[in-house]
Amino acid sequence: MRDSGRILNIHSTDLVDVISDIRQFREWRSTLNQTTSVALVPTMGALHEGHASLIRDAASTATETVVSIFVNRIQFNDAADYAKYPKTLDADLEIAAAAGSTVVFVPKEEEIGPLLQGAPMRAGAIGTLWEGADRPGHFDGVLTVVNQLFSIVQPSRARFGEKDRQQLTIITQWARKAWSGLVIDHGPTVRDEDGLALSSRNRRLSPSGRKEALSINRSLRAIATLHGSGNNAVGELLDHGRSLLSPELDVHYLAIVDSETLNPIDEARFGSIVLIAASVDGVRLLDNLELS
Ligand code: PAJ
Repeated sequence: MRDSGRILNIHSTDLVDVISDIRQFREWRSTLNQTTSVALVPTMGALHEGHASLIRDAASTATETVVSIFVNRIQFNDAADYAKYPKTLDADLEIAAAAGSTVVFVPKEEEIGPLLQGAPMRAGAIGTLWEGADRPGHFDGVLTVVNQLFSIVQPSRARFGEKDRQQLTIITQWARKAWSGLVIDHGPTVRDEDGLALSSRNRRLSPSGRKEALSINRSLRAIATLHGSGNNAVGELLDHGRSLLSPELDVHYLAIVDSETLNPIDEARFGSIVLIAASVDGVRLLDNLELS
């Protein structure tokens, strides 16, 4: 058990300190020296290797690495999706500890809920594109919880995955203004050997759904290959990508966008982003790829 655990009576598993009380978290935070660097990795739990790689990288940049676990109701616009969100706290604590987290912050709905209601954030126009078009208010909910987590944790840096590209872009641009001085880091998408981007929702895929889902990354890679051979015409690149997607997928969007504005472009360039969202077995899967 770490000293902070004894002093503040933080619930300490054998693995890592776990704080669920906001006041106790603030107390722990206030015991840290001004110069102690604190990295934050916000998550909704059901941790997998994608989260673990973010935690490992975060831990290499800071003295204290806080992983937050909170399934944020206000970023779900589908109550069933919220209800079905997997909860695996014991396994999460093991993964977080093994990856180098020093404190896991698990705020309770009844404590953080009112704080979220009291300080809503707005993602603006960029939050109405793509994921935001299909899930109105989603990015407002994400920014609102991230803002509250930043306010409680007071991190020196926070790390997000490129897997959720639109979320990363929106948070990075918002934090530049709202939390200037706080460094936003990002980590690459971790995939299974077969190319499927890891996601907490993948465990809801049937074996056949999973097979169809593999065409998502296959399609992105084929677009990148065609672009790499010198074809910059977005229309042709997307036609090619679409032809490789399994007809069993319900494709919400496949687009090539500017990396800053996320607006669609006509001509693909170095650094342009291919974005896709598609559902199978009622599971919404996101992926993206930066063209190089
Ligand atoms: P969650 O889906 O749990 O993801 C937490 C972090 O892990 C995000 O930054 C996400 O981009 C990253 N991540 C997920 N899958 C990944 C993968 N395969 N490879 C690399 N990184 C991956 O994103 C959220 O939670 C929430 O919206 C949150 C930011 C916590 C706000 O509620």
